[in-house]
Amino acid sequence: MKYSRISGTGGYLPDRILTNHDLEQMVDTSDEWIVSRTGIRERHIAADDQSTCDLAEQAALQAIDAAGITADDVDLIIVATTTPDRVFPSTACLLQQRLDIHGCAAFDVQAVCTGFIYALGVADKFIRTGSAGRALVVGAETMSRIVDWNDRSTCVLFGDGAGAVILEASDEPGILSTHLHADGSYENLLTVNAGVSIHPDALMAGKAYVEMKGNEVFKVAVNTLGRIVDETLEANDLDKSEVDWLIPHQANTRIIEATARKLKLPMDHVVMTVAEHGNTSAASVPLALDVAVRDGRIRRGETLLMEAFGGGFTWGSVLMKY
Ligand code: UT7
Repeated sequence: MKYSRISGTGGYLPDRILTNHDLEQMVDTSDEWIVSRTGIRERHIAADDQSTCDLAEQAALQAIDAAGITADDVDLIIVATTTPDRVFPSTACLLQQRLDIHGCAAFDVQAVCTGFIYALGVADKFIRTGSAGRALVVGAETMSRIVDWNDRSTCVLFGDGAGAVILEASDEPGILSTHLHADGSYENLLTVNAGVSIHPDALMAGKAYVEMKGNEVFKVAVNTLGRIVDETLEANDLDKSEVDWLIPHQANTRIIEATARKLKLPMDHVVMTVAEHGNTSAASVPLALDVAVRDGRIRRGETLLMEAFGGGFTWGSVLMKY
């Protein structure tokens, strides 16, 4: 049976770091509140002249290098983003041009914080069916552009960044299963209520902002992520003890700890980047994966469970052998 397998990872964070202490000067908040409620200490913010595609390009180049291939070897590009450079062309097409690749399919996936999990699920299907041999899958965001910096309930949460993987056809097990879900009836709990066809005036004025009923999102996230852990293990007839690493979406330490408890996984087998990255939406899972691959924690052959939850609501998981 043909699998898709990750052969290289990459990540990029903009240079500028915004700390909780910096935020104390901007809104009525405190380092103590942010750390105790979210686990976040700092986040990276893109420079004014840096776009989502700029971040994606850096992460993609690293992943291509780590996989030991050249850009020409890529025959599918999927970018998961909520903050695309333009309405169109897609950020994936812009990235394709930067990499000087021509002709292969390139498209964006919009599933907010679950975007990378969705993109990986789609790329896995392309590879398993033989429609592609080597995919570049990226999660990239400039969330700072859609955050109201006067709203303390949201501006302390988000950061910018990009993560990428090369996914290749392989006879060795890689991705074992993907599980993608959505329930649009939760549209208003977490939203940017403006776009091209609704409230374009807000978009044009740069006032299209993240709005979140944080506490309600929190409760649904914890329950839903618990359920998807069960679903993923059952689908693979796997026991909790067989999972080596949890690589969760990095929104809130307390949500991540709840999922780890459900897996009975000690926290030193959970990749945590939320303290340094904040919530980078679709970039958070591939960035966390890249950090733990590069520092040598995650090794070939280990079993990884990746999961995410976000606006839509969307949620999903990927179980894989690294
Ligand atoms: O990535 C996509 C999915 N997103 C998530 O999973 C996020 C899920 N939600 C959360 O992580 C948490 O709900 C938050 C971190 C957003 C908020 O934590 P909470 O414990 O749910 O706090 P809360 O919203 O219930 O607010 C508690 C209090 C409120 O004051 P009152 O009404 O109790 O007087 C807020 O006004 O904290 C206040 N507050 C703040 N105080 C200081 C809200 N934001 C801040 C702030 N600094 N930045």
